[in-house]
Amino acid sequence: MTSAVPAVAKVTADPASRVFRLDGGGVTYALGVDDKGYLQPLYWGSSLAANDPLVSTDPVKTGDPVLVKAPGELSGFDPAGSVTLQEFPGQGEGLVSDPGIKAIFADGNRDLVLKYRSHRVDGETLYVELADIRRPLTVTLRYTIDPDTGVLARSASVRNGDRRAVRVDQIASAVFTLPVGDDYRLHYLTGRHAAEWTKKEVGITPALTVLESRRGSTGHGNNPYFAIGKDGLTTEEHGPVWYGALAWSGSFRISVGQDNLGRVRIMTGYNPYDFSWSLKPGETLDTPVFYAGYSTGGLGAASRTFHTFEQAHIVPGGQKARLRPVLYNSWEATAFDVTEAGQEALAEKAAKIGVERFVVDDGWFGARNSDKAGLGDWTVNPTKFPNGLKPLIDKVYTLGMDFGLWVEPEMVNVDSDLYRAHPDWVLNYTGRPRTEGRNQLVLNLARQDVRDHLLGVLDRLVTQNDVAFLKWDYNRNWTEAGWPGVPVADQQRVYVQYVGNLYYILSELRRRHPKLEIEACSGGGGRVDLGIIGLTDEVWPSDNTDPADRLMIQDGFTQVYPVSVMMAWVTDSPNWANTRATSLDYRFLSSMQGGLGIGANLDKWQAEDFTTARKWVAAYKTIRETVQRGALYRIDPPSNDNASSATMYVSQDRRQGVMFQMLHSSMWRDNPAAQHPQGLDPAQVYAVRVLGGGALPDGVPARASGAYWMEHGLRAPLKGDFVGTAFVFEVAQ
Ligand code: DGJ
Repeated sequence: MTSAVPAVAKVTADPASRVFRLDGGGVTYALGVDDKGYLQPLYWGSSLAANDPLVSTDPVKTGDPVLVKAPGELSGFDPAGSVTLQEFPGQGEGLVSDPGIKAIFADGNRDLVLKYRSHRVDGETLYVELADIRRPLTVTLRYTIDPDTGVLARSASVRNGDRRAVRVDQIASAVFTLPVGDDYRLHYLTGRHAAEWTKKEVGITPALTVLESRRGSTGHGNNPYFAIGKDGLTTEEHGPVWYGALAWSGSFRISVGQDNLGRVRIMTGYNPYDFSWSLKPGETLDTPVFYAGYSTGGLGAASRTFHTFEQAHIVPGGQKARLRPVLYNSWEATAFDVTEAGQEALAEKAAKIGVERFVVDDGWFGARNSDKAGLGDWTVNPTKFPNGLKPLIDKVYTLGMDFGLWVEPEMVNVDSDLYRAHPDWVLNYTGRPRTEGRNQLVLNLARQDVRDHLLGVLDRLVTQNDVAFLKWDYNRNWTEAGWPGVPVADQQRVYVQYVGNLYYILSELRRRHPKLEIEACSGGGGRVDLGIIGLTDEVWPSDNTDPADRLMIQDGFTQVYPVSVMMAWVTDSPNWANTRATSLDYRFLSSMQGGLGIGANLDKWQAEDFTTARKWVAAYKTIRETVQRGALYRIDPPSNDNASSATMYVSQDRRQGVMFQMLHSSMWRDNPAAQHPQGLDPAQVYAVRVLGGGALPDGVPARASGAYWMEHGLRAPLKGDFVGTAFVFEVAQ
């Protein structure tokens, strides 16, 4: 963490040395123009002094303290173009690593060599323009650095200044370089439906590691995020970490590997798979922003710094964003069987346990009695809601909750009025099969008529009903990604234009309905990235609601994204995903580590379940701000080979801390080991209590200094399987 550094961002361009620097939040990022005109990356790490010499990190040149030099050919097999380190290389001149951009000109030329042309500093943004050595094709790189966290925002755009179209087959948002080393380790997140956010770690070698989605959306697999540490140096609490995430909700590609000289190259951006963009004369193609940070405090500090940045600059409303209300959703309880009477009965029960938002999930519209029909027809089902939604909505507000509705705007069932009227509106290739997923097809949102139709539908839905919240779902991946109706040369724009129009609808809805909140869901965590997080208020990380699996899911999710947007429901036991049976207490303790929701069938609950739930919901409200907005410490992360785990949340002013201890399974006759709180102020005296009430374990004093708690730790007397507890530390008055 780099908080001792004053919050100023400085962008400097030295005309003599042609070195550009961004300084902020304890981080320096530097690049410079070499003697042959190539733009070279020079440095990314802890703050350097203002006059420190910055020279190329390239090992084949001799250091020159002022001017950055380009190397010559290394051998016949390694021409100069393949050994010159470039900040954003074009594919040409013998480049053998992943390019920043690859293009084909109308005459068949595929050689693209980018050199520095100009730069400007506009406020806190650095723009560097590169141009091909012969053709009028320019690439502009944009850079800013956040003064508080040192998080860089980078993107690129390409402009065709020629009189003929140029086909762009690949363009990155940013390319990063780390100095030569065989000891780098890549940390990433991967998974699949109901098993997202699995942490993985591999060594970085010349064998390229590719994290990508080819699915049209972010996907449940690899998330567009990386963190790189050093073998033996980087741990949860210590050591260097370079990390970042792409703000893009479509197909993406991040490649990481050593280049021909052992330097680490990281390419991030649109996925070139099945993509091309025929750039018309005078046209510009932009790329999404890649946010990248550096930390010296290990993976823990890296995530905390990134969370701080995301909460301030990505999440709508920033620091003023509303805390996540406690939500009820009956999807797991009733599935498509939603009716006015049934939902009203559930709403009454939910209100009694302190729920603040009642959400009607799938099944309320069209002929939607199963997943086979109705998707696309966003009118209230008259059999289920003979009086429309108004009586239910009024009841929900009377009960003191606000009202939310599920939608899946981008999809259509073949058995729907919308598809019968507009079979041409879906992604398809003429005369080819239209593969269904969950009996549905994907509307081609890249089309303007589809975009306008969906915006109209959603706008009317929110205007005509008192809807405070939309759960926006997306339940399949693309198959035949065709776009007949536009010239062949433009059809593969679909990968970019689809997501652009999705963002347009979300922004426009928010503009027209400033109080509306939106949850991004894609069969769980299939579309979670900084692009969607920037336009929604919360995300649904997984359809897997098993409380033990969920601890690992939450641990993976929060490596990158903040708790403030991560929803977590208490559902029925045994869980649908794995039939594991757990107590209601354990389920609450797991879900209270995010934005708390309840998804259980309240019609089946006994009186004691309501008492238990009321207790935990009230307890959650006393720690909600700390959990959602505080600093997250992974004291002992949950994993399959760890019998117990501990996670701590500390409020921004460090006046409250909450440590959750969860026991997966008891071994022998032992209590789990003592867990040591982190992040408290050592000099303050904190009183401790058990969350939800109950006696402190034997030997635990009622109050002590932050130093005591952190040094001494606490040993919770947990026995059995799937049990837990939480200790709340509050500055003693
Ligand atoms: C998938 C979501 O993840 C679930 O929570 C639920 O909304 C269903 N879709 C409804 O079809």
